[in-house]
Amino acid sequence: MSTLYALRSIFSEPISPVVLFPLVAAGAALIWALWKPRPLDSIPTIGPSGPLSSYIGAFQFMFRGRQMIQEGYERYYGGYFKVPILDRWMVVVSGKKLSDELRSAPEDTFSLDQALVDMLHLDFVFGKKVYLNPLHVTLMKTKMTKTIAALTPDMYDECIQAFEQHMPLDDSKEWKAVPALAVGRQISTIVNNRIVVGYPLCRDPEYINLNLRFIVDMFQCRMLFCLIPRFMEPLVGRIATNIPSQIRLGMRLLKPVLDRRVKQLEESDGDWSALPNDMLSWLIATVPKDETLDTITRRLLGVNVAAIHTISHTFTHSLFYLAANQDFIPPIRAEVEKAVAEDGWTKSAMGKLYLLDSFLKEVLRFNGAQAWSLNRIALKDYTFSDGTFIPKGTSVAACATPVHMDPSVYPEPEKFDPYRFYRLMERDGEANQHLVVKTSLEYLPFGHGSHACPGRFFAANQLKLMIGHLLLNYDIELEQPGALPERVWFEAAVLPHQTAKILYRKRQT
Ligand code: HEM
Repeated sequence: MSTLYALRSIFSEPISPVVLFPLVAAGAALIWALWKPRPLDSIPTIGPSGPLSSYIGAFQFMFRGRQMIQEGYERYYGGYFKVPILDRWMVVVSGKKLSDELRSAPEDTFSLDQALVDMLHLDFVFGKKVYLNPLHVTLMKTKMTKTIAALTPDMYDECIQAFEQHMPLDDSKEWKAVPALAVGRQISTIVNNRIVVGYPLCRDPEYINLNLRFIVDMFQCRMLFCLIPRFMEPLVGRIATNIPSQIRLGMRLLKPVLDRRVKQLEESDGDWSALPNDMLSWLIATVPKDETLDTITRRLLGVNVAAIHTISHTFTHSLFYLAANQDFIPPIRAEVEKAVAEDGWTKSAMGKLYLLDSFLKEVLRFNGAQAWSLNRIALKDYTFSDGTFIPKGTSVAACATPVHMDPSVYPEPEKFDPYRFYRLMERDGEANQHLVVKTSLEYLPFGHGSHACPGRFFAANQLKLMIGHLLLNYDIELEQPGALPERVWFEAAVLPHQTAKILYRKRQT
């Protein structure tokens, strides 16, 4: 009542110009700030576009991201559209010409590094020292790919162990059930970490779970940072996110391993070959003298962020397709058996698995990590060749899933066909152009161009080892045979069904 009375008395009395003028001016400034013309206004929006309603659009995008990108592709093919995400607009280009222009723009114009820093808050998570000097990324791009052949026996050794731990076999014909994604994540992370930190840390459940959990902590950090001004991020991040405690945990787990390596090196008079051949040893050999346990831990977490979820999701999607389509299994099994009989579990044997390669390529055509690719940030104002202006600071990406599902690019795109790329290899009598690692503007799960995923050769090799081992030793089935567990889309990202189980038993035939 008293509030009503106060309001009535304000409006019943003539308002003094001294009060009225600043009020009107502030209101006008607010309206101008919210509704003033902006450089991106000329780019059509999918979903609500008002200054306030776009937040509803960002909310819609969380759950309908894939459909919104598809809608943009269909309505504005060959041009641009924008979608709202929590803290920004994302301008999306479609069609070969614009995607190619985005791909080939130099790093000082459209930057992947800056896009990762902005989206994942790498400056806070990894610290300036690490993200401004990403030696671990350089090692993934160079040493890791060059060393695949030498690392493959160790990885296969770890593969046998990880499967035995998480999908133990006995002579019973009874099926056992395991949650596919949880087990897929464990096995992929253990195998991967054999060549990141080596044995025995790669088998330590606390270390494996830290790495699996870290990306969730990064995501929560991103959501929180969307709500606060940039200058508050370091303080809020330290107080309100799990990142600092996770880094401390990583340091505690890594310290004994690091100490042992340094001692080994001293005892061998600096002979690097005395150390295990893995990312940790390469880092010790490469980082500047003033690097600490803290920064090395952050770098190793960074390697895991890039590698383990992409591989484990692709592995889990693959499990579901194989279990749902039993007829896919015998020909892939036969191919693996032949190659391994000739060359053992080696990189060269994995290189002979053309049908498995084609199957994986089809898995990623449907389930590349994101519905868009080539995520970049404009580091300066840029005008596309058709005259479209993109201001500095704008996030830009290219359509990916809509291209993968476009009937003019892939006939019968909705059909999952494990032979799709195998047939092209046979037709051309030359496999290389059609392998899963071959990127193009029509095949974007790994991006394309100078930033195309440098880990894709490694990922393909690891996935072939894991799927090959699975098929040669196990029968698999779905809990509800034939019904492919539905994947989950969140914003532009696709994830395998979170809880669906697969059944397994020792191979019977
Ligand atoms: C199925 C597995 C994988 C998928 C689908 C995938 C996908 C991608 C994509 C889409 C990009 C961005 C490319 C661009 O914007 O042009 C990327 C970049 C990157 N990936 Fe992967 N990736 C996978 C596995 C890996 C693995 C195993 C590693 C490391 C061992 C890795 C390391 C990296 C790095 C370091 C970059 C940044 C490249 C740069 O800065 O130029 N990825 N990946």
